[in-house]
Amino acid sequence: MAARQIIIDTDPGQDDAVAILFALACPETLDVLALTCVAGNVPLALTTRNARMICELAGRSDLPVFAGCDSPLGRELVTAEHVHGRSGLDGPDLPEPAMPLQDRHAVDFIIETLRTRPSGTVTLVPIGPLTNIATAFTKAPDIIERVQDIVLMGGAHAAHGNVTPAAEFNIHVDPAAAACVFGAGAPLTVLPLDVTHKALVTPARNAAFRAIGTRVGDAVGALTGFYERYHPERHGADGAPLHDPCTIGWLLQPDLFSARRVNVEIETGSELTMGMTVVDWWGVTDRPANTTFVHDINAQAFFDLLTERLARL
Ligand code: RIB
Ligand code: CA
Repeated sequence: MAARQIIIDTDPGQDDAVAILFALACPETLDVLALTCVAGNVPLALTTRNARMICELAGRSDLPVFAGCDSPLGRELVTAEHVHGRSGLDGPDLPEPAMPLQDRHAVDFIIETLRTRPSGTVTLVPIGPLTNIATAFTKAPDIIERVQDIVLMGGAHAAHGNVTPAAEFNIHVDPAAAACVFGAGAPLTVLPLDVTHKALVTPARNAAFRAIGTRVGDAVGALTGFYERYHPERHGADGAPLHDPCTIGWLLQPDLFSARRVNVEIETGSELTMGMTVVDWWGVTDRPANTTFVHDINAQAFFDLLTERLARL
């Protein structure tokens, strides 16, 4: 069976970095066409830097990296240096990137790729704010029906928000973009905090990364080790949630997860709940199910798969 063609839209970010490495370690299953970068965890200049550093760490300086939108739709950018460090990739000591950025804008690359490749053959994997995806859908609505799937990290239902009581970071940064994507009608699979908060990097799991004994294993140990310092009061000594790699785990082995088809709408009116993913979990409205909402994971099997695949790089 041919590998699934994917575009990873990203705001690296330590967990983005692990997701990118995870995907690049599985070429038999995932054909990563490009990385498209967006402002989110840190400003765009840093997300494009960090994305290229991760490509070079994986030995993939050939992979096209595109710069996308540098601010959300109609809102000021909110970043997360307090979580990811000033660079957005604090933890490992990695060299500055040598590979160039692509000249074209990420949004134009997404549009052209969906228009030129056969319909239904390209999956979008957004793991940051949805600004690039929404901008592409608005600029070229014809591409929406050509999307094979959107598999995104974002949102929360019973897990509560991580930026406000109501909202998860990726959705909160650009609620208008999220409303566009969730309302576009393309196939949509969401990996929210409900599942990522069950994918905790425990000390044993971090030690397994470091035991790989390679540059990649050491870097992932440092990336997830740095990222952890922010979370102890939320997740206790168990460790930090590894959000973005859950999208890749779903694409590789969906049977490690549990999901439910539900309607999800995005709050864009109230500042109090701005960016909330309003999940009709019990089907109490007549709103059609638009989302495969992933809510559970076999965490140890997920980490075993991740560690085994990272050892390939
Ligand atoms: O809320 C977690 C999400 O926000 C992850 O994608 C993390 O990288 C940040 O972008
Ligand atoms: Ca991210």
